[in-house]
Amino acid sequence: MKPLPKGFLHGADYNPDQWLAYPEILSEDYRLMTLAHTNVMSIGIFSWSALEPEEGRFEFGWMDEVFERLHAAGQSVILATPGGARPAWMAQKYPEVLRVGKNRVRNLFGHRHNHCLTSPVFREKCGIINAKLAERYGKHPALILWHVNNEYGGECFCPLCAEAFRGWLKARYHTLEALNTAWWADFWSLRFSDWSQIEPPCDHGQNTFNALALDWRLFVNHQTIDCYQAEAAPLRRITPETPVTTNYHRELYDLWKFSRHLDVVAFDNYPFWHHDPRQGFYTLVAPNPAEEDGLGLSPTSDYFVAMEAAFDFDMMRSLKGGEPFLMMESTPGSANWHMASPQKERGLALLSAMQAVAHGARSVQYFQWRKSRGNYEKYHGAVVNHAGHENTRTFREVAEIGSLLESLKGLAESRIEAQVAILHDWEAMYALTEDNGILNDLFHNKPAGYKRAFMPYYRALVENRVSVDFVPPDGTWWEGKKLIVAPMWYLVREEQARRAEEFVQAGGILVTTYWSGVVGANGLCHLGGVPGPLRHLMGIWVEETSSMHSHRSVGVRLRDGVEFEAGQFADSIHLEGAETLSTFTNGIFEGQPAATSNRFGKGRAIHLGTKFPLHHLRSFFSSLLDEQMIPRTFPADLPPGVYATRRKSGNGDVVFLMNFGDAETIINTTGLGWVSHPDGALIHTAIRLPKFGLKMVLEKA
Ligand code: GAL
Repeated sequence: MKPLPKGFLHGADYNPDQWLAYPEILSEDYRLMTLAHTNVMSIGIFSWSALEPEEGRFEFGWMDEVFERLHAAGQSVILATPGGARPAWMAQKYPEVLRVGKNRVRNLFGHRHNHCLTSPVFREKCGIINAKLAERYGKHPALILWHVNNEYGGECFCPLCAEAFRGWLKARYHTLEALNTAWWADFWSLRFSDWSQIEPPCDHGQNTFNALALDWRLFVNHQTIDCYQAEAAPLRRITPETPVTTNYHRELYDLWKFSRHLDVVAFDNYPFWHHDPRQGFYTLVAPNPAEEDGLGLSPTSDYFVAMEAAFDFDMMRSLKGGEPFLMMESTPGSANWHMASPQKERGLALLSAMQAVAHGARSVQYFQWRKSRGNYEKYHGAVVNHAGHENTRTFREVAEIGSLLESLKGLAESRIEAQVAILHDWEAMYALTEDNGILNDLFHNKPAGYKRAFMPYYRALVENRVSVDFVPPDGTWWEGKKLIVAPMWYLVREEQARRAEEFVQAGGILVTTYWSGVVGANGLCHLGGVPGPLRHLMGIWVEETSSMHSHRSVGVRLRDGVEFEAGQFADSIHLEGAETLSTFTNGIFEGQPAATSNRFGKGRAIHLGTKFPLHHLRSFFSSLLDEQMIPRTFPADLPPGVYATRRKSGNGDVVFLMNFGDAETIINTTGLGWVSHPDGALIHTAIRLPKFGLKMVLEKA
């Protein structure tokens, strides 16, 4: 397989097919790319109707020219397959390619990403055009990577998908009896007597069948990957030496599974900069005593948004065990689909691009190179705006990022070493969010709730200045980890629990929380007490769990007598070998343990039975990090709003110090002997970091 070019990729989604009637603008593009210090363009993403205007009539002339001109302008090409948006002729002639909604109504032609995941016609048509692209451009020296489709997402409820679901279930359960048993189908007379009775979930039918809903999620996941593989098949066959990827957006699919089929992970990054983090997608800051972080930042600080982006980047890097990933899209200005479109404040364009690099990205790419003149994305940020020249703030910022990346060449393939990991499992997420009955407001049908539940643990680790990886529950990439935190590990299988035991036995520390080890496969509750197969390892039995809204809290006392309020969940814990770390001081579980620790082999298994406030999580994790002698990214406390990451370089570590806080700040570097990177200037006693400032320093090996 051909490696990606050395050094950082810097570029954008480029849509010349929208500008074929403007040859002077196309010529300008190549001049401007040089000025913007780009070296890669992603093309063809939504070009199906330009490439195949009528069924079977192909027009590659324009793309031939674009390839030649990009190559001449020193730009590599990431070539997309066009499945992200089908042409009108296809929808008209073969309606089966269009998606059917949960209400069983077939969509009309329009929008994009509106394709059935199963349709044989869609797959066949993708196969034909993708093969033609591979044959025509596979050997072109500018081609470095395939980009299949675009941001897979959503689901289709058409008869073909329903039938495929039944086929998937047959392969999984073999007999209806086994399925009825696994699905606990005697509840509400749900038992099936024929496979044909099984329907995907819908609001006017199966909308409370947890086990069916969980399997539907797993099936959609499978079918999405299958569709991707079908689209990628001609590329793999005709150009086996060219790597293949697709660009992820949100983490709604089992990306552990999906990423096995990618040669490099690619991610589209759209943080809600300058929005109120208490609203919106993830409501990052909640008015709950347990979430008060004690940092003293304003509640609308961009730092909270930055932490969410950091979480995503660390996840992307972890998906292939730490290999550098591509930031395939980001906006150089504002996005048009957020609740508002604030332009980035001074410094943030560069800082947010470099934040990806700080977490292990090997590219900074934008959506989009040039603003489209019409339609849905005409107001979306772009490197070149409608004025059409380089004399804009955004263009200058992009050029600055490009030249900075050129000066950091050696770093693009470098890795981040983390001895700390957060356990993340999509099956557990699906089960938690399809199920109901614990904290429906935050979790039922709300996959984002799962991510939000992770944020305090993620932040408490990052704010302790350590590198954090994510790991799957099956033990993959657990080697070298000394601390694994598993927040809300709801669905735990026997074999996963055994792997966790081995990890702790050998000296690791495992931290679980409330609502862990509750169910196993199919969301069936573990019999014999929570935390199910983890019970022996944790040395506790959780008799019951109480969840509460943000207006309620519960008092906790540590062993040293310090008291504070916690919330959201409270476990009624009975000790079975573990010792008590803290105790509830009021409420129905008054006097019972709020957190426990169990010695197991050479390690410890710690359970947090309530959602502790962030300030406590920080100091708690700090002592665990010291106990495990885990290296920090920065040797001393950092000012609020500033955090650090570390990438290995040939001659030492490059430390990225990033200020997402509310104001300028000073970082004490007395005695560190660090040099500024890449300019090599000696850093004396302090670094001044303006708001949205970045400083890279080199710690020589
Ligand atoms: C992405 C998508 C791009 C563009 C961008 C705008 O989700 O892949 O094609 O629409 O959003 O932010």
